[in-house]
Amino acid sequence: MSVKLAPSILSADFSDLKSEVKKLEKAGADLVHIDIMDGCFVENITIGAQVVKALRRHTNLFFDVHLMVVNPEKHIDKFIESGADNITVHAETTHHLDALLNKIKSVGKKASVAINPATPIYLIENVLEIVDMVLVMTVNPGYGGQKFIPYTLKKIQNLSEIRKREGYNFEIEVDGGINEKTIVECVKAGADVIVAGSYVFESENIEKAINKLKNSVRD
Ligand code: DX5
Ligand code: ZN
Repeated sequence: MSVKLAPSILSADFSDLKSEVKKLEKAGADLVHIDIMDGCFVENITIGAQVVKALRRHTNLFFDVHLMVVNPEKHIDKFIESGADNITVHAETTHHLDALLNKIKSVGKKASVAINPATPIYLIENVLEIVDMVLVMTVNPGYGGQKFIPYTLKKIQNLSEIRKREGYNFEIEVDGGINEKTIVECVKAGADVIVAGSYVFESENIEKAINKLKNSVRD
């Protein structure tokens, strides 16, 4: 399975998201990672389902929507309607993880679960057989441009081992502090989908940055 790159538009120009997303498409991004922050689960506030829906009209890129919101069940219908392809909910934000994931799956969307750096894998053990992806946060969510937390590599490895042992099919996504060095460690540990925000958007050339990341893990 080859590694997929998912640039995060959190570090893009928010006044011109349409062009930014088009640029990503042209530059060869595999997915676009869209961070939804509510100012409650995390400090920042970003965008809502309406903006995701507006962007949907301008690109065929796979929309990887990362919900960092409390009570995601309250908002899930709107994000389903927005044209998201995958919806990731944080295990820390809902009492009814199984119900929420099944709801997302029941409408034909990919359903994924995210865990913060300090959240142990055992909390999501029972949903591993139903999720499409597990997002291991490699920084504390809320901001772009933070430093990668090394102990999260152990979690990626553990998840990869569980997946192999149990014959599960979920992908492992990592998010936060990704550069050409940390991507190598994450892929070695078992990650398949790599989110990168500031590395891509703060580079001089988006296409070169994407290629540089991809080349550093080409087998
Ligand atoms: C962080 C977000 C990330 C963010 C990553 O809370 O979930 O998707 O954009 O940014 P970088 O790659 O700059 O660490
Ligand atoms: Zn994210």
